[in-house]
Amino acid sequence: MTTSTDLMDRLTHLIDRQTQLNVDAVYYHDRAAPRAYLLAEDTARTLFEFRRDIEPILNPNRISDLHLQRRLLDHFARRYRHSIYDALQFVTFDAAHDRLVERVYLTFCHGLWSVLQCARTEQDLAARLQLHAVKHHRQLRLVTRSLFEQHASVVNVQALKAVTCAQYSPELQLEVLGLDEATVNGPLLDVGCGEDGRLVQYLRTRHVHAVGVDRLVTPHPALFELDWHDLPAEQERWNTITSHLAFSHHFLYHHQRASHETVRFARTFQRLLSNLTVGGTFAYAPSLPFIEQLLPDHTYLVTRQDIPAPAPPQGQTTAPLLQRTQIRKLRSSSQT
Ligand SMILES: C[S@@+](CC[C@H](N)C(=O)[O-])C[C@H]1O[C@@H](n2cnc3c(N)ncnc32)[C@H](O)[C@@H]1O
Repeated sequence: MTTSTDLMDRLTHLIDRQTQLNVDAVYYHDRAAPRAYLLAEDTARTLFEFRRDIEPILNPNRISDLHLQRRLLDHFARRYRHSIYDALQFVTFDAAHDRLVERVYLTFCHGLWSVLQCARTEQDLAARLQLHAVKHHRQLRLVTRSLFEQHASVVNVQALKAVTCAQYSPELQLEVLGLDEATVNGPLLDVGCGEDGRLVQYLRTRHVHAVGVDRLVTPHPALFELDWHDLPAEQERWNTITSHLAFSHHFLYHHQRASHETVRFARTFQRLLSNLTVGGTFAYAPSLPFIEQLLPDHTYLVTRQDIPAPAPPQGQTTAPLLQRTQIRKLRSSSQT
């Protein structure tokens, strides 16, 4: 007897493996040489063996297992978002894209239900599934195209793969931000903390009350999966706000392209400042001179510094790689 938890674990594991195996299938690809959809060794076997348990979750005419279907759709959508961010971290999903992604995966689930219904053998299932998945990825690439279109000048998937959206060691983050772990003051909010919230976890072991938000996090009580634009207004809540190569990096990217997202970033920036306590500090890198210069200096003390580049090879000089900013709140923003 398979419980619904076992079944969902099996299915999400299978989705993860299939996604890994076909990692490029959601991006553009060479039309002249379309590639087949690859199946892991035991994908067809698992689906065939558990088809009677899986069918009710996918059945378009039945609503009793809707909560499981929802979990499955959420998992698919999350994996898809992950693949997109891996290629281009600056992509943003609006509500219309979210709906589109959901629709494409729902269609996939309903088609998979037909595949399971019709397949007579494991091999038959594998063949039908491959055809279905190829069709599905064609739809998915249309969504990808529309997401990437906003970034037309940078979209070259092969080149993008070389642009890292990494997580960094807590020591390096503190150094870049110009903070000292001995004096850093909680409560601290790390914005765009990375999937593992390395800085947050490190500071918590040093008794700093720290929490992090990121659009993708691994489960942890101090890490919250949240878009930074959805952070609530919490007047004077945080003594320190940090963001290493995250919020300001994205803000700068959109500002430099005069994208329609810029205004949204400016509003969130303003909200983060009002969420700082008086005396509190917002520390981030890279700097945002274009907006920092607009802050009233009787309310905010802005310090911008070069971050020294690593020592250049002999005989060469390099400019500083980037700048960091610390904004100290001198008085309540409601008094300005
Ligand atoms: C280069 S990583 C830096 C992570 C971390 N600060 C570090 O230094 O290890 C940038 C992070 O910003 C997150 N991010 C990008 N857009 C976001 C958004 N709209 N809301 C929340 N997090 C976002 C990404 O998921 C990614 O984890």
